[in-house]
Amino acid sequence: MATTTSAFVLGTPVSSIPPVPGLPLIGNMLAFRKDRLALQDQAARTGPIARIQLAHIPVYIVTDADIAHEVLVEQAASFKKSAGLQFLKPMLGEGLLTAEGTPHKRHRKLLSPAFAPKRLAAYGDVMVDETNRQIDRWRAGDTVDVSEEMMQMTLAIAGRTLFSADIRSDAKKVSEGLELGMRAQVESLRSPIRLGYDWPLPRHLRMKRAVKLLDEVVYRLIREGRARGTDAGDVLSMLLLARDEEDGTRLSDQQVRDEVMTLLLAGHETTANALTWTWWQLGKNPRVLAKLVDEIDRVVSKRRIVIDDLAQMPWNLAVIEEAMRMHPPAYMTGRETIEPVTIGGHRMPPGSIVAINIRGIHRRPDYFAAPDTFSPERMLPEAKKARPRHHYLPFGAGPRVCIGSHFALLEAQLALATMAQRARLRPLPLRLDAEPLVTLRPRGGLPAIVEIR
Ligand code: HEM
Repeated sequence: MATTTSAFVLGTPVSSIPPVPGLPLIGNMLAFRKDRLALQDQAARTGPIARIQLAHIPVYIVTDADIAHEVLVEQAASFKKSAGLQFLKPMLGEGLLTAEGTPHKRHRKLLSPAFAPKRLAAYGDVMVDETNRQIDRWRAGDTVDVSEEMMQMTLAIAGRTLFSADIRSDAKKVSEGLELGMRAQVESLRSPIRLGYDWPLPRHLRMKRAVKLLDEVVYRLIREGRARGTDAGDVLSMLLLARDEEDGTRLSDQQVRDEVMTLLLAGHETTANALTWTWWQLGKNPRVLAKLVDEIDRVVSKRRIVIDDLAQMPWNLAVIEEAMRMHPPAYMTGRETIEPVTIGGHRMPPGSIVAINIRGIHRRPDYFAAPDTFSPERMLPEAKKARPRHHYLPFGAGPRVCIGSHFALLEAQLALATMAQRARLRPLPLRLDAEPLVTLRPRGGLPAIVEIR
């Protein structure tokens, strides 16, 4: 257990943290630019906490569930989100994902009711409807890009549940904006040169184009919400009607915009990636798929799936959770110390950057035997009970844990069961590389052949 007070901090100095070997001056920058996941894996092999050097900036990579728990939960108050997220600010502004301190607490409290289990129950029908709409577009023998299909579907679900809007026709604009923005962020991370956002660098121009595309959609959603004028019972209405507890003021237009943008992006891309990786694994593991189809046939046969069925479909959930173990959409998350703090027995000075290697933790053989084997059995209730909960953290942990985790799991379960009830997506590639942008995506998408049951 870490020991810390702001005045006196115990532990060994950070210089005792083992480094991943790099080059003079640039450290591990080349490896970071060339293959981030390989560098993360190398850090994991170096130790539970390892130092990489991005030019002059040291980054401490944590591949240990106990230390991750210290950072995200026990010592959360000594950290803020790390600077890497700054590069997404032109896009996300001061929404829930990026805000700090009191504004973060206020917005979290404001938005939480929209993600409470009671409210989620009302979203189930829309989730099944939009999945069915997606499947209705597929024809037997078609080749589709699973990644694109899942993005369209989860975007449509987010649009209707959170904003009472049909945004299917905006899918192209959103995916282009999101992709441009994420690539611009990665380029900024990779560059040792820090210049203000107004400098006309290609990555800044790319980010500006991304913001323009996404703003068009977000401002339209807000205009429509305002024009309705009534409480639609969705997140948008909550944001438009909310008043500050102390001074009774409404959220500013900018605050509403930032929150809508954050939820629109965080609320669809991650779940789409989880489902895409799930189809990839189902393609490689026919035994797992057969068991899933059996479960669906037994519990619902051909009738429409409802939320209450999910309790009898543990395999469906286990398949999704195991896919997120091997391919966590949020594969890494960063923090920066705001005061001296001890983690993993090391004294960290203020301003230290710590990255939680979620994917590496999920693949540690001492936490998950044969970690490179896709085995949903380990996500069944008995197996889960037998291991510490914090070994598995696809949604993070602590005060910044994903606010949409129940929403995402509900959506993924209803969507996967509905899809597998009616169709199969048989992946074509023999291997699939992961592309580490803000989230972990299959590089180049996932082409698959449609089979209709
Ligand atoms: C499989 C799907 C999802 C995954 C894997 C995921 C993962 C995560 C993770 C790991 C974090 C914490 C980041 C950190 O600690 O730095 C997070 C935060 C967040 N997620 Fe998710 N998420 C998913 C779905 C969703 C959905 C559906 C929504 C909204 C509808 C959402 C909205 C958010 C927001 C607003 C935050 C910031 C919370 C805060 O800082 O208070 N996420 N997510």
